[in-house]
Amino acid sequence: MKHLLGTDGMSREDAVLLLDTAAQMAATQEREVRKLPTLRGKTVVNLFFEDSTRTRISFEAAAKRLSADVINFSAKGSSVSKGESLKDTALTLQAMGADAVVIRHSASGAAYQLAHSGWLRGSVLNAGDGTHQHPTQALLDAFTARRRLVDDPEGKGLDGLTLAIVGDVLHSRVVRSNVSLWTTLGAKVVLVAPPTLLPVGVSTWPVEVVHRLDHAIDRFDLDAVMMLRVQRERMTGGGDAFFPSPEEYTRLYGLDRSRMDRLPSHAIVMHPGPMNRGLEIAAEAADSDRSVIVEQVANGVAVRMAALYLLLAGEEAA
Ligand code: NCD
Repeated sequence: MKHLLGTDGMSREDAVLLLDTAAQMAATQEREVRKLPTLRGKTVVNLFFEDSTRTRISFEAAAKRLSADVINFSAKGSSVSKGESLKDTALTLQAMGADAVVIRHSASGAAYQLAHSGWLRGSVLNAGDGTHQHPTQALLDAFTARRRLVDDPEGKGLDGLTLAIVGDVLHSRVVRSNVSLWTTLGAKVVLVAPPTLLPVGVSTWPVEVVHRLDHAIDRFDLDAVMMLRVQRERMTGGGDAFFPSPEEYTRLYGLDRSRMDRLPSHAIVMHPGPMNRGLEIAAEAADSDRSVIVEQVANGVAVRMAALYLLLAGEEAA
């Protein structure tokens, strides 16, 4: 592996290798000294053109725990046109000797462009590009589910599990990465959304689609329910164009105590964060025993350590 740009096209073998390596990294994080010397002398640049809390901090923590030098570059607000600024920035990072660039950008395809432009020699890790892909999020989601739901998980996928992903599918890169990864790992994915929040072409995805959360709960034996943030910043003209009102959205798609109580007793509740409490998820669901939302954040560091390790520690790592 040279780059980590998406989960589409990722082989099951590579996905399981990433998850198994993350399990090893997680074990090192339980020791008293959590820092490993593995990436000493390597430079990792965090290049964030879009807002982020947990993904940026998580990549920074992961690189530091592997002893890499970390440079944070928050490029938001640049007045240069996007293509040019990305190129100039890449050339600067190359001149500074970046071994890996972690990029988040509002344009779908930005990470791919950076990896294949020839501007950079290092590895590129996609931390979210527009509505396209967010591979480390899907990996940490799969890792969390595997730990919780699969016995003796090492070497295994998510075979036989059923995941429902609920809400703003249209604007979500988290969905696209999770659909590819979970199906590659053997799970079934059910998307739950109003027609206005589904992309054109969803019928070609390897998923089942239902338009009511209650129907998904009634019809499927769900092992995991992933709630998506209603991404208002991507809804030009406000949420009004996509659903009648926040109250109506919550009534049909919100996860509250009574819906949660109808799930199988082992089912887990996930959310990539940041949450709109009271809109897509009620506090009683977010803070319940079924919720693995805080675990997802913790596991993100181990998954990103695994990705950096496999990309940067060279052939011998794989
Ligand atoms: C997600 C993202 O940025 O795509 N957040 C994250 O990385 N944890 C989801 C979101 O913003 O809703």
